[in-house]
Amino acid sequence: MPVISAPHAFNEGSLFVDLESIFGYRLFLKCEGFNFAGSIKLKAANEMVESAERDGRLTRDSVLVESSSGNLGVALSVIAASKGYRFLCVTDPRCNLSTKLLMEALGSRVHVVTDLDGNGGFLGTRLEYVRALCASDERYVWLSQYTNAGNWRAHFRTTAPEIAAHFPHLDVLFVGTGTAGTLMGCGRYFRAWHRPVRIVAVDSVGSVAFGGEPGRRMIPGLGMSMRPPLLDESYVDEVIRVEEADTIRTCHRMARRGFLFGGSTGSVVSAATDWLARHGTRDLTAVAIAPDLGERYLDTIYQSNWLQDLYGDRLLDSARLDATPWEEDSASRAPGRRRRP
Ligand SMILES: Cc1ncc(COP(=O)(O)O)c(C=O)c1O
Repeated sequence: MPVISAPHAFNEGSLFVDLESIFGYRLFLKCEGFNFAGSIKLKAANEMVESAERDGRLTRDSVLVESSSGNLGVALSVIAASKGYRFLCVTDPRCNLSTKLLMEALGSRVHVVTDLDGNGGFLGTRLEYVRALCASDERYVWLSQYTNAGNWRAHFRTTAPEIAAHFPHLDVLFVGTGTAGTLMGCGRYFRAWHRPVRIVAVDSVGSVAFGGEPGRRMIPGLGMSMRPPLLDESYVDEVIRVEEADTIRTCHRMARRGFLFGGSTGSVVSAATDWLARHGTRDLTAVAIAPDLGERYLDTIYQSNWLQDLYGDRLLDSARLDATPWEEDSASRAPGRRRRP
């Protein structure tokens, strides 16, 4: 029984969901949403804060500032509240309302930039704002998740060994890419492992993280409007880009079976099931990483009006293909009957 006195002292690191009954493929999903920040970013935030404390960069007087589309902001809010630091999160209109409210409830301040950058995203604008703040007052400390080695080191030290401990015969790992911290930590760890592991990076269509054309992206988490400075493609075997429509369909499909995950989990699982459909799953051990849970996306991915406005009726109808028991013909349903995968 874990007993803690600081919120970042707990993280569920050994929970995996076997998705075979939903998708028909043996795919194990590592769930990273069970901690007090609700996402995998708690690990990166903790590592970066502790390293800044050790270096003497972070003192009682400091004001932490960070650019985040949400989850790192919440994670830093949790840690800042626990340790008594002030924290300002610079975000953009794609940050979910509940995420913003959560940061404020934890005592952080939130600044939302609204101007698009040259790539059609907000990252450039957010970074410009953070740089200007840091130049204006030396009390601001920017951990810079995009360049901080602590971001990938956290996953090298925790996420990857947790997977390795449960799946000693791992063959393929699917990792969503935002800053590339998770990808680089896992990629570096498994490169030096006792057997080869295929590292598949998952990105969203419209992201320029691995090159390609910039485009509209409405779901926070995955994808970047610049190349991630932490990214070293020599650790990546393959990149799969996922359309947001497929992300949403996959999220709804899992939700209809009781697993409410966030948007990037939908992307990662969509990429992984496509890959497994192409390669076959016989004798393969496949793991994907789910960075967070779905409650923060209730007013976006799981809300009909939002889906209809942005993606139209066709997506809405296909997302509903896996109907709830309410929508099934009750006469044809035997009690307790399960839907086929
Ligand atoms: C929802 C979500 N998606 C994707 C990612 C991608 O992670 P990274 O920034 O390590 O590439 C994160 C990271 O926390 C996340 O919270």
